[in-house]
Parts: sequence; structure tokens; C-alpha cells
Amino acid sequence: MASVTSLSDSVHQRLAAALSAALPQAGSADPLLRRSDRADFQANGILALAKKEKANPRELATQVVAQVESGDVIKDVEVSGPGFLNITITDRAITENLAARHADGERLGVPPKENAGITVVDYAQPNVAKEMHVGHLRSAVIGDALRGMLDFTGEKTIGRHHIGDWGTQFGMLIQYLFEHPGELAPAADVDGQQAMSNLNRVYKASRALFDADEEFKERARKRVVALQSGDKETLELWQQFVDESKVYFYSVFEKLDMEIRDEEIVGESAYNEGMPETARLLEEMGVAVRSEGALVVFFDEIRGKDDQPVPLIVQKADGGFGYAASDLTAIRNRVFDLRATTLLYVVDVRQSLHFRMVFETARRAGWLGEHVTAHNMGYGTVLGADGKPFKTREGETVRLEDLLDEAVQRAAEVVREKAQDLTEDEIQERAAQVGIGAVKYADLSTSPNRDYKFDLDQMVSLNGDTSVYLQYAYARIQSILRKAGETKPVAHPELELAPAERALGLHLDAFGDTVFEAAAEYAPHKLAAYLYQLASLYTTFYDKCPVLKAETPEQVENRLFLCDVTARTLHRGMDLLGIRTPERL
Ligand code: ARG
Repeated sequence: MASVTSLSDSVHQRLAAALSAALPQAGSADPLLRRSDRADFQANGILALAKKEKANPRELATQVVAQVESGDVIKDVEVSGPGFLNITITDRAITENLAARHADGERLGVPPKENAGITVVDYAQPNVAKEMHVGHLRSAVIGDALRGMLDFTGEKTIGRHHIGDWGTQFGMLIQYLFEHPGELAPAADVDGQQAMSNLNRVYKASRALFDADEEFKERARKRVVALQSGDKETLELWQQFVDESKVYFYSVFEKLDMEIRDEEIVGESAYNEGMPETARLLEEMGVAVRSEGALVVFFDEIRGKDDQPVPLIVQKADGGFGYAASDLTAIRNRVFDLRATTLLYVVDVRQSLHFRMVFETARRAGWLGEHVTAHNMGYGTVLGADGKPFKTREGETVRLEDLLDEAVQRAAEVVREKAQDLTEDEIQERAAQVGIGAVKYADLSTSPNRDYKFDLDQMVSLNGDTSVYLQYAYARIQSILRKAGETKPVAHPELELAPAERALGLHLDAFGDTVFEAAAEYAPHKLAAYLYQLASLYTTFYDKCPVLKAETPEQVENRLFLCDVTARTLHRGMDLLGIRTPERL
């Protein structure tokens, strides 16, 4: 693993050095460098500095220019406007930089950060004995992409799938199963679809009984108490529901082309034992108080209707624990046992009030603080193509599997139309990669806190900001590399570069910085936007600069090399987002 200093870092260092040479009293000032359309980079930092030092900005800029060491990396620096600097990079530096990235392989020369922390990512948390719907899609897709990006920066991530496997509805389910043994076949014998339809059947039957039969209702209530106090027989039946549901979850996650590890499925029930302790600690510290028998936490700033304070309920008056108690106990586990430095929750924005209260409670208890921070990455709602919350024509929530199946089917049409030499099996395989990729990309390319429209026509379109467009760019490059036969990609730093080659090269150099920024801000859409721009710059390059028919053999090799670095960067970036890049399409 050989790390490569990015061109923007090299320029930054040289400008910072020139700044302090020109103005020693300023100490280390930031030249505020960014990519620019006029030149390769523009530095805007001199304006603020001149103001602070009461100097003339254009004069100061001219002095800085005189101090800039030019040659190997910087070809030219010019003062422009009121005191900006326009910087042009040498062609050689661009090619050499990419050659070093190319030689590094997988990481493309991007070094991992030195002081990495541990982030626990709470994502992909469906509920036991319930079907997954489109709302569960976002948490899984965004969480998986964030993990990919964070891991790439060197952060250690631990996944937690906080599944809903605890609570009063299980009393009803278990009591029903207790009275109707054998209705759930052993989980080992069923596939995901069957598992869900079994659960559905039992759920509906037990619900009907619960609503109709007062005595059953009473028995179901007693069953909840037995469950929470760890009665063996009750726990065994509960386990059956959990196992059956997991078979189903795994089948959906597999469809989503997402790896979920068993040891990271740690649901609400896992914190059951620690909940009384959580309550005791909070009460002893005075963070939680007794109110009408319940143990609650109040917040001055959080008020509901009639301006009444809305408390967080740690323990109900009947002694039961709920959602908040399991989350508070989970925080203790993640902070003190897993030694997390960051807690990240990828959960629907509609739960943001819950998390605000949970985090504030944990802060008052000293479990969160400067050493550990918590964030709720609240995401918006998935809307139908009509802009209303996504429902079936009958007004029901859309089942996630149906939606994924439909996406794959649409993708198969697109792939079939374009496919020249693919067998039917190959078409199906590509269709899965294209269809699932399209669903993930549509989700990831919008800022997570915004709602977005689930529009399959748009998602699998070949034009515009879609994963299919990116996948085609990748496959096209692979086809060129195959066509090149014996001619291999080789960098030739001595060659002059065309404008489209320079633009592509400079963008490729920014990959690492983009991933770091997107990871730090929990903003997968920034990486998606980068990749889309990369594919667009590649398309321009491809239109303007013949590759296999370039003028000289060196130029052919150098352009093949640019193609290859582009392909690897696309592949890596898509991979971090959880999207496949088929070699042929
Ligand atoms: N199972 C919950 C739901 O479907 C999401 C759990 C979120 N994570 C958490 N730690 N509360 O709404």
C-alpha cells in the first residue's frame, strides 16, 4: 500500500509555504484552495489574509506568486480579480499522480486516516413477525453505504441491527402458538417467502382471537409478563418467531445484495437484562424521576400539544420497559463494552424526537459526552411516482420484495435490449445487478434527509444520473480494454494532455478527498455525485479523444491507462456504495 499525495494537497502545501514566506507574521494561513473552471485550481485565501493584515490584496497576491515554487507540479500561477490566484498544474504531474494511484491497486493511493475511531452503525432494523416495506429499504441501503465509506477511511465500524423483537404483541403471538402448536414449521425447513406467509397467517389468526375473545386477551397479557421475566417455555416459542423472521430477513437482504452478519443482529430483546439496571442508574443519578408511578425524564425544551412537557418513559407504571429503555441500555453496551467513539443511527426522521430525548438522557447520565457522540441520520420518506407516500393501488404499503422483483424485471428489459452477445442466464444475472443497483443508487444519490420518488422508469434509464449510466460507462471501458488486446495501459508522463484528459485526470485525483468528506458528513450523495461527474467527464474524454485510434502508440497506451484508472475508480466508488459494476453489459 503506497499512499499518494493528491495534487490538491501538493498545491496546497506549496501555496501555504509561499504565503508564509511572503508574510511571515501571518503564521500558517489557509490558501483556501478549490477546483476551478478558469484554471485547474483557484486560491481565495489571500483576500481574508490581506484584510486581516491591512495589506493590499493584489499586491500581497503578487508577492505570494513570486514565492511559489513552480516547475514539477505547478506550471503557472496568475493573480486574478481582486486578489485570487489561478493555478495551472503540469501535465506531467497529473499523469505521474495517476500512475502512482494505478500502481497502488485497490486503495488507489488513498491513505487511511491515522486516528481512526470506532463507529457503531445502527441500521437495517426490521421488525420480527412483520413484513419489510419500502421504509426499511432506506435504512439498509444508506447504512450499508456509510459503513463502506467509513471503513475505507480507516474507521472501524460495528454494525447493529436493532430489530424489533420484543414487546407486547409477542404475548398475543406466543399465547396463540402455545394453544395451537405446530403452526410454525421449524425455520430450517422453509424459505424466506414461506417463512413470511407462515408468520402472517399466525399473526392474523392471533389478532382475530385477541380482538374477539376477552379470555384469550387476558392470557396473552399474562404471556407478556412471562416473556419479560424469562419463562423458559415462553422464550422457546418466542425464539421460533425470531428464527422464522430471520429466515425471511436474510432472503430479503440477499435480494438486496447486502451482507448481514448474524452476530450483528442484536435486537431490542438483547438489552432486556440490562434494562432494570439502566432504570436504577438513571433514577439514582436523578436523571429520571417517578411520575404517576412511571419512571420518566423531562426536558424543558421538548413540549407537545397544550405546551405540556413530553417526557421520555424509561419504565411504565406497571413495571414494563419499552423502546426507550432498550435504546438507553444499548447505548451503555455500545459505549462501555464495544468502546465506540461514535454512535450512528440510520433511522427514519419520524423517530428524531425519540432520539433527541434518548441522547439527551444519555448525556445527562454521562454516557455520552466529548468522548462519544451520537447522531441520528434521519432519512426522509419514499414517495410514489405521483409524489404521495408510496402505496399499492389498493392503498396498502408496498412489500419490499415485490418492489425489488419489479426493479430487476425492468432492468432485464433494459439489459436485453442492449445485449448483443449475452445468454439468457447472463441477462438475468446482469438484470439483478442493474436493477438492485438502480434502487440503491436512486436512494443514495438524493440527500438522505429529503423525500424521494420511487420511479422505476427513471431509475433504470440509461441517460441521466442513474447507476445504469455509471455501470455502462464502466462496461464500455472494459470493452475497450478487451479490444486493445495485447496493447496494455501504460502511463507516459512526457505526453501533453488534451483538455478533456486533464479534466478527467484532475477529477480522478479527487476521489480520496471526496470519500473522506462524504464519510465525515455522512453524505453518500456526495460520493454518488462525484461518480456521476466522473462518468460524464469520461464520456466527454471518449468523444473528444480517440483511444485505440490515437495518433501514436504511446498515446494509445496513455489513453488506455486513463481508461483503466477511471474504471478502477468507478468500480471502487460504486463498491463503497454497495453497487456492482458488471464487466459486460
Ligand atoms: N425497528 C425499528 C422500526 O422499524 C427501528 C429501530 C431503530 N433503531 C433503534 N436503535 N431504535 O421502526
